[in-house]
Amino acid sequence: MLAIFPVIQLAMIDPICILNIYSFLKKRPIQMEFSAGQPSERFLYHQVVDLISDMQQKGTLRPGDRIPSLRQLAERLDISVPTVKQGYLELERLGLVEARPKSGYFLRASQARMNTPRKPRQSTRAVPVGRQEMIEQVHANVHQHNALPLAICNPVSALPPHKALARNMRRVISLANEQALGYGPLNGFLPLRRQLAFRYLDLGVQADPEQLVITNGAQEALTIALLLLAKPGDVIAVESPCYFGILELIESLGMLVYEIPICPDDGLCVDDVKRAINTQPIKACIFSTSITNPLGAMLTETNKQAIVALLESRDIGLIEDDVYGDLYFGERRGLPAQIYAKKGLVITCSSFSKTAAPSHRIGWLLSPRFAAQAARLKRALSCTSSLLNQWTLSEYMASGEYERYIRHLRDVLKINMQRMKAKVESAFPNQTRVSSPHGGAVLWLELARKADGAQLFQHALEQGISIMPGTLFSPTDKYRHCIRLSYGVPWTEEVELAIERLGRLAWEYW
Ligand SMILES: Cc1ncc(COP(=O)(O)O)c(C=O)c1O
Repeated sequence: MLAIFPVIQLAMIDPICILNIYSFLKKRPIQMEFSAGQPSERFLYHQVVDLISDMQQKGTLRPGDRIPSLRQLAERLDISVPTVKQGYLELERLGLVEARPKSGYFLRASQARMNTPRKPRQSTRAVPVGRQEMIEQVHANVHQHNALPLAICNPVSALPPHKALARNMRRVISLANEQALGYGPLNGFLPLRRQLAFRYLDLGVQADPEQLVITNGAQEALTIALLLLAKPGDVIAVESPCYFGILELIESLGMLVYEIPICPDDGLCVDDVKRAINTQPIKACIFSTSITNPLGAMLTETNKQAIVALLESRDIGLIEDDVYGDLYFGERRGLPAQIYAKKGLVITCSSFSKTAAPSHRIGWLLSPRFAAQAARLKRALSCTSSLLNQWTLSEYMASGEYERYIRHLRDVLKINMQRMKAKVESAFPNQTRVSSPHGGAVLWLELARKADGAQLFQHALEQGISIMPGTLFSPTDKYRHCIRLSYGVPWTEEVELAIERLGRLAWEYW
């Protein structure tokens, strides 16, 4: 037993892990997270995977260590042997453990661990974006071909909630009849704004439903926020690499972009933001304040608070893009930057696109200071958003199903991320750098310097796979050798084979 859990290492690991090990040693059932309505069997084997991978990550289990036998773990966890077996098979697929005939399961001694992508140098000046044409071409190709969609970041397709949404929509139509098909209030359906306000209250943000405006996805919320804070010719600071939809928006509005590189792990550094606002005429910033796309980095709360204070001290507005905030893999959600705003200069934008259905096109903007102006702009831009979809989502939230679904989705995405990373690590050249996302649904890969993501995109399409070329994520060519892969897909053998094929293509550049 002591060989498996050396006492000396207990001090180095976190309290939950210690609790689990303690429970293990004392033959007590481990605390499991269950929620009503979720298939518990799935969670049980996920917990086995999480427990062993946590122990591996924290060094409690070392490469080559024997892990508990199926029977031992089943007894200690008070679950069935087949469930533990399912967990171990999953760990084998992830390349974390290996079964040795007549000896049991062992933590794999050699695990190819790839480095995380490098942080590029900070830009010297603001530039026009000039990526619209390329984005159009990529989109046209991705949608034309019937390719395996590793290009599109659509997390909910890993666990489609269509049945629950359809049930709620049918209920709304049968209860509200033709009322549900009308225009509805211009700033959004009040019960939905109330549900969102409750949710923000849970996160510690005192949001009033009147400070929320319902929009057509987060993209319209970002558009409104940008129109409120800046005008053509102004400089907008973004994190780099940056979601191409934001770059395209800045380009469409005739603004310039200044890129601030982020660390793959912690997101933005306060000093980099300080340097940017000291050297550039920055009018507003658009930052992902919890999980970034494409790196999956998570801004620390300390940095977030310091960045909000810094920007507010210079009267620079912060548009926070929080679409992936709920899809975190750690223990806690990142808080909205709104919570740290003292002068009302933070505008929060988010949507249901990554946690319910992008086709609903329902998002929102939260701003205690600018809500009335935002509502006016929303009316001018698109009048209102679909009442039927808003009503459906508010019922879905009120029933508690939404929260349960997100919890389940996070679990599935985390497992998919581990599977995709393990597959990339075995199929791609060792020198490849790959992100370690703290959440979201995409991996960011840095290939050989001479690799061309756009060329790889074409070659992959010819093989029936769509990927996102890195060039789209910056107005300059600094990510030409990078690609983005989405693990927001149902995990199948086809996905694994696709990654093997992509790996073979990547080898050609080394
Ligand atoms: C970081 C980020 N922000 C905003 C959006 C736009 O979201 P929506 O589909 O709700 O307009 C996306 C969509 O991919 C995104 O990745």
